[in-house]
Amino acid sequence: MPRLTPKPSAAIGAGRVGTVRLADVIAALTYALDLTEGQRPGHTLRSTLLAMRLGEAAGLGRAELEALYYAALLKDSGCSSNAARMSALFGSPDQELKRNMRLVDWHDRWTLAMRTARSCGVGLNPVHRIRHFLMVAQTPTLTRDIIQTRCERGAQIAQVLGFPAATSEAILYVDEHWCGLGHPFGIAGEEIPLMSRIILLAQTVEAFWSEQGTKAAMEMARKRRGTWFDPTMVDHLLAFRRDAAWWSQLADSERLGESVVALEPGSAPLVATDERLDRIAFAFAAVIDAKTPFTARHSTNVARYAVGIAGALGVDGAGSRDMLRAGLLHDIGKLGVSNRILDKPDKLTDDEFAEIRKHPAWTLEILDHVSAFRHFAPDAARHHERLDGRGYPWRVGGEQLSFTARVLAVADVYEALTANRPYRDGLPVATVVDIMARDRGTAFDPQVFEAAVGLAETGIFASLATVTEDGFEQLQEVIPVQSIDSRSHRVA
Ligand SMILES: [Fe+2]
Ligand SMILES: [Fe+2]
Repeated sequence: MPRLTPKPSAAIGAGRVGTVRLADVIAALTYALDLTEGQRPGHTLRSTLLAMRLGEAAGLGRAELEALYYAALLKDSGCSSNAARMSALFGSPDQELKRNMRLVDWHDRWTLAMRTARSCGVGLNPVHRIRHFLMVAQTPTLTRDIIQTRCERGAQIAQVLGFPAATSEAILYVDEHWCGLGHPFGIAGEEIPLMSRIILLAQTVEAFWSEQGTKAAMEMARKRRGTWFDPTMVDHLLAFRRDAAWWSQLADSERLGESVVALEPGSAPLVATDERLDRIAFAFAAVIDAKTPFTARHSTNVARYAVGIAGALGVDGAGSRDMLRAGLLHDIGKLGVSNRILDKPDKLTDDEFAEIRKHPAWTLEILDHVSAFRHFAPDAARHHERLDGRGYPWRVGGEQLSFTARVLAVADVYEALTANRPYRDGLPVATVVDIMARDRGTAFDPQVFEAAVGLAETGIFASLATVTEDGFEQLQEVIPVQSIDSRSHRVA
């Protein structure tokens, strides 16, 4: 028989870290962005090392280097927002698609057409492959649209996190090309902010370096000198190509994070204050929720409900803050699941279910790398576990489920059933309470469930939008949610 709820005060709010560097937190979270982009782990960190070396070679001042540093780390923070559309149009797993498309010189129309044809409907029958190719071919603004969505959201996230305007601007223009054939604005030469030119070169060199090695990366840079890239920046890159000791740090995956954190410019390291950590958690919740329109605002709602339930059971202060962050980040592992599965309108196959069931393990892996979030990583990851051990993926129950995990389990299901989805309206509260009551004491902790019912029936859940500062409201305002028609694969 499952045990009663562990005491909240003993379970959460403990093990909090003192002074944490902001660079350390963001650097660790970039692994989640790499996962979404289909890049090899450490892509963003290696791109940041390259960008900083180029920035120094270009003679940037300290304030500019600081803006460049955070722009390079956050360059892909808008990456999840175009995943659903890309996956729906191409009919292929979005991560693989993104990784392949990053290696294509899309100024070369023939190569682009061939690569597009190969990337459409991967694993589907020929009729569906042709159908997807035609859908892509009939969307002439596709490349611009998907880049615009990613760049604008990335720039907004940097802004909400409180970085300087130069950081947001660098992200916004990161896909503009020296010759004017980039996107979304088609600006050219020195009209493009220097930091954007640096990051474009750094991230493309990294993608080739990871896939094909240094020689191929240098050849690519030389070939695209003056078309994609600022010629001066390519010259700076080629000038340090033989600095073997420097390049070897890119291959040292164990110490990559350390190398990047050590490079943080500025007179003193930026500290991850509680307010900044909340904003980071909100920002990544927005990244998670933007991944699929089927779960839009799920993370932020789960966080609100979890804080409400925990509050009703006497949790406040640091415990409440941890609950908020655990709720916001509990599904961060979903960034590693393809949208072809997440957004599939039909019944999932066993293999597809197995893929979805991996996301809590990804959540644990990602959060465990973040020093400020490590202490609640296992609790956040266990949100699909059940009191009687019938959950997934670890099938743990009873005492192995902390108070936080039990609260998140209830908040997660409550949110999933009450929220509107593109294909159905949310269920009425009374119906949801009836459905969940069947699992009271077996799947769900009785005390946690009763607390949730109390809040749900009095409508108090609905008024928790201002649970912390302005981050929640602000991010929901600036990051509108994409909607998608699952049958036609059209994005509205
Ligand atoms: Fe989940
Ligand atoms: Fe969830």
